[in-house]
Amino acid sequence: MLRILVVHGPNLNLLGTREQSIYGTLSLDALDSSITKLAKELGVQVNLCQSNNEGELVTWIQEAQTRYDGIIINPAAYTHTSVAIRDAIAAVGLPTVEVHLSNIHQREEFRHRSYIAGVALGQIAGLGPTGYLLALRGLHDHLTASGRQKKMSTPAPARRRAKEMQPSRSRSNDRKQSEGSTE
Ligand code: DQA
Repeated sequence: MLRILVVHGPNLNLLGTREQSIYGTLSLDALDSSITKLAKELGVQVNLCQSNNEGELVTWIQEAQTRYDGIIINPAAYTHTSVAIRDAIAAVGLPTVEVHLSNIHQREEFRHRSYIAGVALGQIAGLGPTGYLLALRGLHDHLTASGRQKKMSTPAPARRRAKEMQPSRSRSNDRKQSEGSTE
């Protein structure tokens, strides 16, 4: 089963009450529930977390390397400032989709620059909560297709050897996914 980590950055805990004309009225809990519902439909395991702390976000991204197949992240304000989050995403090398509720390219100039976009598989901005659901579908399709491609591009004997050498796929689910985790 594919495992995807969904990371919400600073101030997204205030969704529903925060600047409703920009971010809408849906709470973070309600958003997370709709992501979890789609994940079940797709047969994907998702873990969701939120932090206002840059270092904590970096640590979660680092830890994701051995525990997840991909990341969906709304780095919120850190999008425009954080070399550390960009470097963490580049370091782990997991396919990562950047999501923004608002269209950052239509807003103040300082929001036009994303430090994350250059290391992301793709960016979705301006579609509100639907953006997360599209990101989940897109990442699921990407991971499924690239898994298939990997198998197809490996010559048969090498594939057999690789299979013999494979450790059990059941990576631990016991991660301490921080206080912000909803799963
Ligand atoms: C945001 C856009 C950012 O510029 C802002 O700082 C946020 C939310 C969005 O989802 O639209 O906090 O990432």
